[in-house]
Amino acid sequence: MPARSLDQIRRLAKNRGFIFAGSAPYGGLGSFWDYGPLGVEMLNHVKRSWWQNVVYNRDDVEGVDCAILMNRKVWQHSGHEATFSDPLVDCKSCRARFRADHLVTDAILARETEGENVHRKLRPIIELFPVSLKAAGLQLYAKLRDDEQDAEREANRRLREFQDKVSNGEKTSLDEFFGSLANIPGMPNVSQYAQLFFFVRRHPNELRSALLKLGKVSCPKCQKADWTDARNFNLMFQSHVGPVEANKGTEEELASRVYLRPETAQGIFMNFKNVLESSRRKVPFGIAQIGKAFRNEITPGNFTFRTREFEQMELEFFIKPPQFLQPGEKTDEQWHEEWVEQRYNWWLGLGIDKSRIRKRAQTREELAHYSKATVDLEYLFPGSLGFGEIEGIANRTDYDLSAHSKDVPEDALKRLKLEKNADSVENLDYFDQDAKARYFPWVIEPSCGATRAMLAFLCEAYNEELVKPPAEADIAALKTEIDAAIKNAEKKKKEAEKEKDAAQRKHDPVAIEAFIRDLTEATTRLPQSLAEIDGMLKDHAGAQNLELVKKLSPKVSKLAEDHTRLVLKLHPSLAPVKLAIFPLKKNEPRIVDEARRIKHQFQHLFRTVYDDSAGIGKLYRRQDEIGTPLCITVDFQTLEDNTVTLRDRDTMQQIRVPMEKLKHEVFHRLGMPV
Ligand code: GAP
Repeated sequence: MPARSLDQIRRLAKNRGFIFAGSAPYGGLGSFWDYGPLGVEMLNHVKRSWWQNVVYNRDDVEGVDCAILMNRKVWQHSGHEATFSDPLVDCKSCRARFRADHLVTDAILARETEGENVHRKLRPIIELFPVSLKAAGLQLYAKLRDDEQDAEREANRRLREFQDKVSNGEKTSLDEFFGSLANIPGMPNVSQYAQLFFFVRRHPNELRSALLKLGKVSCPKCQKADWTDARNFNLMFQSHVGPVEANKGTEEELASRVYLRPETAQGIFMNFKNVLESSRRKVPFGIAQIGKAFRNEITPGNFTFRTREFEQMELEFFIKPPQFLQPGEKTDEQWHEEWVEQRYNWWLGLGIDKSRIRKRAQTREELAHYSKATVDLEYLFPGSLGFGEIEGIANRTDYDLSAHSKDVPEDALKRLKLEKNADSVENLDYFDQDAKARYFPWVIEPSCGATRAMLAFLCEAYNEELVKPPAEADIAALKTEIDAAIKNAEKKKKEAEKEKDAAQRKHDPVAIEAFIRDLTEATTRLPQSLAEIDGMLKDHAGAQNLELVKKLSPKVSKLAEDHTRLVLKLHPSLAPVKLAIFPLKKNEPRIVDEARRIKHQFQHLFRTVYDDSAGIGKLYRRQDEIGTPLCITVDFQTLEDNTVTLRDRDTMQQIRVPMEKLKHEVFHRLGMPV
């Protein structure tokens, strides 16, 4: 079973040194994370494995590592300065700030989930994607789009009428608008909220502001419905090159302004000609880059899923435009498909189960301004996050190289909706010897987040296993104590609710409610959930300062320690530590020397650790928790017959291996060439 919640991963990541909240001694900084001793190892392995898949295993890809800061004109001509933004609104009452699109769609979906009017057409879709209602909305949306073109046109006309009325302050309501849709021939019979979702996706700005103005969406913090107008907020972090103190927007300020790159792709486009010429490549060929990217996300969260600083692994693969293809050469669509398959298989090869990864073609409305088609690879993250994008494979056509070039034919500019670039001094084009023609190559772009990939691999690998079931009487006694702790928590929740001044409350009633809900559910899965309950009692936000929980926690810990194990079943190539060596007796010099000698034999090849700080059972547990595939124990028998115990993380099987065969056996089990 993979992780059931991101909290399990967050807890493990902190306790074992994978990922820490950044700037902790100063209370942190919104959604910036530091990678600890094991985190840096694992992240490096994720990146190395990607590089292996995309660069080394192919004959047609080169790598680069570009500067993070680039000339501001790069971002002007890529379209980011004008369009890389999210719509923001502020609650006038409590001043909280939200993304307008999330606010509106979440409000719609919340009503759907509450059971208002969920139509039979939507139900099967929701059931298919129980954890991601957003995906359900998108599916419905795609269905509506394809089937109901005429109805949609008429509905759009009525939407414009409705919007005009709202803007002019005329009397109208959402009910009136949806009522007017019901008699359109061919309009699918779906719930109002499903229709609403459809229109929000199709006409985001118009409907969003109408909904907010009509007071249909209340503030998640203070429940009032009094909003500012939505305005666009650019997601790029700004800085300046040189000692500039000019006011924002002045010529001097603009001349020195730079952005922290929001994607690594543009650095690759800037170097298209450099790489082409220095490496004597011919189209088709690709350029890969791994590096930091920064986005001032309005709603970061879900641990490291959406952060403001992250790492990307991107490939720009340059291909022939359709009009220059020779018979038998691959089309852009075929290249796109090939890359989707290659990348999908990379995820499967590293242990992601087929049931938790899917390919999803973006709908036309979702596509970025440069994309002809994009297929997202989505992973089923635990909890409310559900299916989330881990990689996008886009067909960017000739948009990028044309956008950064000085002499692009008029018809191409028109087709790509580009202005003539008067800033560029180059043409990022290519002379094709075979076709005897000059053109701007098209681009297929697989773009993957390294930090988000690591989160997906951690979720997939996380396993809490019952090694030997506890006695039934122990479980029954535990359930009785949990019942008592829940009753006590309910009492504390009520007391906290009675206290009107939030600052005076000893407990947070919302957090306690979540704790009661989670604990009640986990208790139904005992004894399998023993380790999960152990973690919950220690770390759940709603479990803090509850007396009975404090009393119960050590007992559960003891039971969990005796009967369960937490194991990260990471693919060996991703495991931060590959091999751990233990001496059975730490005060027996001959055993210790031998164990240290074995460590030296392997440590220059990969991360190998020596540990003698606990009993063997505990040492195995510690390595299981961080995903170490193999452990070696040196004991008295080693001194007699020169064999060691080799223990496998997943099966817990132990075999005796003669010293002369040890390297071969370890390499073989780690999947390394022997
Ligand atoms: N060059 C195309 C591009 O940047 P994207 O879909 O915006 O496309 C690609 O980003 C990948 O980068 C995503 O699939 C995701 O894995 C990762 N990513 C994007 N924003 C992120 C964020 N705020 N935090 C962590 N990873 C992110």
